[in-house]
Amino acid sequence: MSANATFTEPWTGTLTQLEWPSNPRLLLLALINIPLISIVLNVLWQLLPRDKSQPPLVWHWIPFLGSAPAYGRDPIAFFRECREKYGNVFTFILLGRRVTVTLGPQGNDFVLGGKHTQLAAEPVYGPLTTPIFGKDVVYDCPNEKLMEQKKFVKVSLTIDKFRAYVGMIDDEVKDYLNTDASFKVYQMDDINEWGTFPVLKSFAEMTILTASRTLQGREIRESLTKDYAQVYSDLDHGFTPLHWMIPGLPLPSYRRRDAAHTKMSSFYQSILRKRRENPTENQEDDVMNSLMKQRYRDGKQLPDHEIAHILIALLMAGQHTSSSSLAWAVLHVAARADIQEALYKEQVQHFGTPDGGLRDFGYDEIRDLNILDAVVRETLRLHPPIHSIMRKANVDIPVPVTLGTPSEDSVFVVPKGDIVLASPLISQVDPGVWDNSESWEPTRWYDEKGVAAKANKEYNEGEKVDFGFGLVSKGTVSPYLPFGAGRHRCIGEQFAYLQISTVISSLVRRMEFRYEGTFPAPDYSSMMVQPVPCQIHYRRRKFE
Ligand code: HEM
Repeated sequence: MSANATFTEPWTGTLTQLEWPSNPRLLLLALINIPLISIVLNVLWQLLPRDKSQPPLVWHWIPFLGSAPAYGRDPIAFFRECREKYGNVFTFILLGRRVTVTLGPQGNDFVLGGKHTQLAAEPVYGPLTTPIFGKDVVYDCPNEKLMEQKKFVKVSLTIDKFRAYVGMIDDEVKDYLNTDASFKVYQMDDINEWGTFPVLKSFAEMTILTASRTLQGREIRESLTKDYAQVYSDLDHGFTPLHWMIPGLPLPSYRRRDAAHTKMSSFYQSILRKRRENPTENQEDDVMNSLMKQRYRDGKQLPDHEIAHILIALLMAGQHTSSSSLAWAVLHVAARADIQEALYKEQVQHFGTPDGGLRDFGYDEIRDLNILDAVVRETLRLHPPIHSIMRKANVDIPVPVTLGTPSEDSVFVVPKGDIVLASPLISQVDPGVWDNSESWEPTRWYDEKGVAAKANKEYNEGEKVDFGFGLVSKGTVSPYLPFGAGRHRCIGEQFAYLQISTVISSLVRRMEFRYEGTFPAPDYSSMMVQPVPCQIHYRRRKFE
């Protein structure tokens, strides 16, 4: 293709050839100079005196790209470095967007406790989630409607339901160990032989099997793992930072995601139609049947497409969060022989039988296992899967004075249009709050008067608020917020605890674990912080 173009001169009517610099050296110079000039202009612009009411801007060389590489590589190191230089409140550029970060418990309170008319989640998360979940649910509807949808789902997340779920989760784990190729050595029944399993794959599979068996019900669980495994995987591959930051790229993964959404939505809707046509046939106590009975405040039933999309949202919301938490928990258990031994002894003490075996356990019993509880809590302190919680400012918003402004007289104002970001992880590993903040130490949760217990109290007790989905503790200023806080607080918290604790119990009572080598680093390149790919060694226990 020629680099030249022709056009007709309007005043003479003659055809003129427009020539791009025909000299390749000139062309090269132009190509180098345009980015150079924009870098120089960006630098000069940053050196200009700034509006003192705005939070400091993180220094960056390349316009548009801004601090994206540093944030993407290791957001926690990036936030800490910025906090040293600029304090608790600062703004950075992320692919052309201004993101204002507010750190520490007060920063968490500012973002998570903000009014939704001022700080909205939908414009930030919607571009990622709507193509996956679908229309009219979660972040593709007004916030009041989301609050009602959360209330509808909570009907399936009650203690009565959980009582039935424990046995189902244990059965799924047992079946998985007895059939999956990674657990061949376990299946051989040889207690002296060690095998290995791939951490990410195995926990992703155990999570989807246990969540779909319990929440989605048997009928859906069976189709999901057989006929819909690829569809689920295509949806899942649309849940990445790239799909979030640059929606609508003409790439195969985007097309596959959209096709998968259509298939998944039709799959749920076909089951819904069947259930409506034969109301007495499927009486299973699953989320779909429960949603079919719900009504919005205006008396309207949920349309089928909304029920389908809520079910997709639940599948995705609980998948990466729980599977990465499980992966970190079992990795730490494998690397800490003392805690592993204590966990096993706890099982023996509570469920041991006279013949040296272990009996099944129930929901109320698992809640009494203090060591297991501490293992889960500590894992969520050190490895909360969501490192950045974001909202969009719909108006100019003053940041509380004590949150890092240079003097008491000045107030930072976050300008309308900024994304605001809280990172509870920063307070969860703050050395000013936690002793040995970087080390995984479940014993810190046994101390009833210690920092951990106090943080947990602040999180789960104290002032309660109802945002429309039942009373939740406000808890926004606690230094421990793995499930968020305020109106967007997770509704899956109790279920996730139950699922993670039951899977760990099921594994620890059947196998010993060992982790060799350097402990895996966090991988920040996916949406949830998971360990880099690694293997755990296992050996079957003598008594189960
Ligand atoms: C919201 C964490 C499991 C469903 C959230 C938020 C966090 C979170 C931090 C708040 C996000 C924000 O404020 O922007 C976790 C962790 C989990 C987990 C750490 C597991 C270890 C689950 C499960 C489900 C679920 C199993 C479903 C059964 C939801 C829903 C929301 C939410 C529906 C509400 C979104 C909103 O109101 O904007 N979760 N979650 N989560 N989570 Fe979870």
